[in-house]
Amino acid sequence: MISSAELTAFLAQAREAVNIEIERWCARVEQELDERVGAAIAYSLRSPGKRFRPALTLAAYRELGGAGDATTIATAVEVVHTYSLVHDDLPCMDDDALRRGRPTTHCQFDVETATEAGFRMVPLSARVLAAGAAGLGLGGRILSSMARELYQACGAAGMVGGQVLDLAAEGQHIDLDALIEIHRAKTGALIAASAVLGAMAAGANDHLVECLRRYGFEVGLAFQIVDDVLDETGTSSELGKTAGKDAAQRKQTFVSLMGVDRALRVAREHAERAVDQLGAQGLDSTLLRGLASFIVERRS
Ligand code: IPE
Ligand code: IPE
Ligand code: MG
Ligand code: MG
Ligand code: MG
Repeated sequence: MISSAELTAFLAQAREAVNIEIERWCARVEQELDERVGAAIAYSLRSPGKRFRPALTLAAYRELGGAGDATTIATAVEVVHTYSLVHDDLPCMDDDALRRGRPTTHCQFDVETATEAGFRMVPLSARVLAAGAAGLGLGGRILSSMARELYQACGAAGMVGGQVLDLAAEGQHIDLDALIEIHRAKTGALIAASAVLGAMAAGANDHLVECLRRYGFEVGLAFQIVDDVLDETGTSSELGKTAGKDAAQRKQTFVSLMGVDRALRVAREHAERAVDQLGAQGLDSTLLRGLASFIVERRS
């Protein structure tokens, strides 16, 4: 078992390393792009997120034997995630004013700038990923596997497709299987890719890569279920985003379907299943086990 102090220290160290790398890319973007869009991208990336996805990439990399520094590869995942948040908050999507304790990008700038900033973060993430692979001396074959993984996860079969289904389900009645599909696509796919990228960068064999994918999907599903719970039980100041919005917007969530207590139980079950995946491949990682329970116990 990893102690909670050790886990907190790992997450803090990962966050610090990713923030430093993000700062380097923000400086580049501010120099290279149109002033307003560059500023909007930098504003979005610099905002204080948990950096959970890149931490997962770094954990998978380390636990699968990676001996270098995978921070830049991990940062590519965070750039994609940040783009997803900027667009998720737009008036045509969840119409949110608060994100990570700050005005959302379209409130700080305007809708047009935030929309463009989001789109431009996709090619930026590809640049970051390529730089990360080059920094570790990884060849074209591994880079292309990592790129396929990341962009399939955020495309129509993953995050973007899940977001479309999430919006279409507002105010509708859907069953549990349909909701699981939405959550797996909109959130699970990118979280699974975060773990897979770490494994690929470490040179893990196909069995272990697939193991990390199964682990990541279970963690990702648990992550979104807990996000649904926190929307209901947390406060806006704890969450850094507007609490209670899912019910107000008649979103289909685990809370609307089964209530807070059962949703939390189901989230725990998925976190346990994630850990079981590791055991099934003989991967005894206290860090990956700790991260699976962290996402269920988190308060923001
Ligand atoms: C929020 O993700 C969006 C979801 C997919 C649930 P996080 O809870 O990781 O948000 P940040 O990055 O810490 O702000
Ligand atoms: C967002 O889900 C999933 C994404 C792909 C960004 P939510 O809409 O529940 O995320 P929050 O609660 O706004 O962070
Ligand atoms: Mg949403
Ligand atoms: Mg939202
Ligand atoms: Mg939410």
